[in-house]
Amino acid sequence: MTDNRTAPIGVFDSGVGGLTVVKEIMHQIPNEKVIYFGDTARVPYGSKSKDTITRYSKQIVRFLRTQNVKAIVVACNTASAYALDELSKEIDIPIIGVVKPGAKVAVETTKNGKIGVIGTSGTISSETYTTYMKELNPAIDVRGKACPLFVPLIEEGLWEDPVTDEIVKRYLTDLMDSGIDTLILGCTHYPLIRKTVQRIVGPEVTLVNPAYETARELKALLSSHNLLSDQTSGLGTNIHQFYVSDAAERFQIFANSILKYGILSTKAVNIETY
Ligand code: DGL
Repeated sequence: MTDNRTAPIGVFDSGVGGLTVVKEIMHQIPNEKVIYFGDTARVPYGSKSKDTITRYSKQIVRFLRTQNVKAIVVACNTASAYALDELSKEIDIPIIGVVKPGAKVAVETTKNGKIGVIGTSGTISSETYTTYMKELNPAIDVRGKACPLFVPLIEEGLWEDPVTDEIVKRYLTDLMDSGIDTLILGCTHYPLIRKTVQRIVGPEVTLVNPAYETARELKALLSSHNLLSDQTSGLGTNIHQFYVSDAAERFQIFANSILKYGILSTKAVNIETY
């Protein structure tokens, strides 16, 4: 195992969405360096099979290992749902996904035992959120709903727009009618339309953001392995590195709209060679 507290943390996603997790990591553990990989050539993951997502995820982990990362965060919900177990078997550094932290806090949050989960078709059909929550409390009633139009709307920048309101209403009406009091935003992109979702579901439903919970658990995980960085990075400086499998410039524009610090450069990697 790499025993290097100043080594970076590898974070990956199918594209830009995982930057919502990076944002939380930067905020909650600002001394940590991040090496991010966005699989922009092969996005979306949400409509692909478990085998394909597992193969992609293994390649990305191999790439991140070449960067000497001390831990890995699977920032993509779909990859966490499909591939985390397989990945965990193969590596000897700490690895964490976004599904388990989100599931845990949802079970702690609900008062009436009815929880909704929204995500990609892959995440919802895998039922991984449901499995984790039922492990914690078998009596929990979970309702899942795939919302495949949310990702393109968000990537088009329609975070607050009548069209998005309409689509959110269409997808979430059945969930609301079922009486849930907690809703997991089970896709990397969804925290970006959190305000719209909250307005439509109403204040009585608590939204769970797995990105936030993952950064919290990551901090605890690093600490338990004595891997938390004790170096002050110098806030405002750019210590992080970004890699993609395609369209680096487009990634960079979106990334700069999400993250607080400007991204100096994004490099392209031929991920199929890993
Ligand atoms: N990052 C994906 C997730 O969180 C959403 C985008 C995609 O389908 O690849 O599930």
